[in-house]
Parts: sequence; structure tokens; C-alpha cells
Amino acid sequence: MVSALLVCAGLLSAQGAPPAPADDLAARFTRDVRPILESHCFKCHGPQKKKGDLDFSKVTLRDRRAWKKALLQVEEREMPPEGENPLSSEQREALLRRTPAPRCSGASTAASTSPRSAT
Ligand code: HEC
Repeated sequence: MVSALLVCAGLLSAQGAPPAPADDLAARFTRDVRPILESHCFKCHGPQKKKGDLDFSKVTLRDRRAWKKALLQVEEREMPPEGENPLSSEQREALLRRTPAPRCSGASTAASTSPRSAT
């Protein structure tokens, strides 16, 4: 859970106040996150293969549930699987920071619907 806190802290300091508008988040997602998913995850979770019924080419910023799972996998280093093209620490960080992790509900994506405000 320490890492989750770090991620949240990083998010806050990186964005400062006021929170970035949604457009901005979407732009950064496309710029910073999509390419990583494409190079590291699409092979098994993309248009061709949908392991675990997951197609990241279809997952958008709004799909918090999918992200929550995905980030957990990345955080615990479960995904990408061993023997696959591993994520660099920058890439891990980009994924963990630039996606709407529900546990970081203070961030700009306003997870007001998230039930987990208390950790
Ligand atoms: C070499 C193939 C491969 C790659 C590359 C890969 N995965 Fe997976 N992934 C799998 C398989 C296989 C499963 C298990 C599916 C199942 O059990 O039905 C899985 C399952 C998952 C799940 C579901 C876990 C659950 O609890 O249901 C998530 C989330 C996930 N992967 C995220 C990712 C992310 C994010 C990346 C890129 C960083 C990635 N995967 C890259 C093969 C891959």
C-alpha cells in the first residue's frame, strides 16, 4: 500500500492545483499511456487476442474497473507475464500515474463515485 500512497502523492504534486481538465488527461493518456499498452499489452489484450477477455484497445479512461485490475497487475509485476517484454520503470510509472486509479480519488478525474475514499 505504500506504493499506492506514493502514486497518489506523485499525482498530486505532478498536477498541482487546479486539477487538470479532463481533456488534458485524455491527451496525456493518448500520448503517454496508449503507446505502452500497444507495445506491451496489445499482444495478448488487443484487437487480435483478448486474454482474460480484456482488450485494451477498447478500454478508455472511463473504465475504472478495468484500470483498477490492470494497474494492480502492473503494480504487482504480474503483467506483462514473465518472459515477455518487461516494462521499464518509466513505463510502469507512466501507467500508474496517468491512469484513473480509483484509489487515488483526489486526483483530477474526480472519482466521486468511488466508494473507497478512506484507505
Ligand atoms: C504474453 C501475453 C500477455 C501480455 C503481453 C500481457 N498479458 Fe495480461 N494476461 C495474460 C493472460 C494469459 C491472462 C490471464 C487470462 C485468464 O486467466 O483468463 C492475463 C490477464 C490479465 C488481467 C486480468 C487479471 C484478472 O485478475 O482478471 C489483466 C488486468 C491484465 N492481464 C493486464 C495486462 C496489462 C496491463 C498488460 C501490459 C502491461 C498485460 N496484461 C500484458 C497475458 C498477457
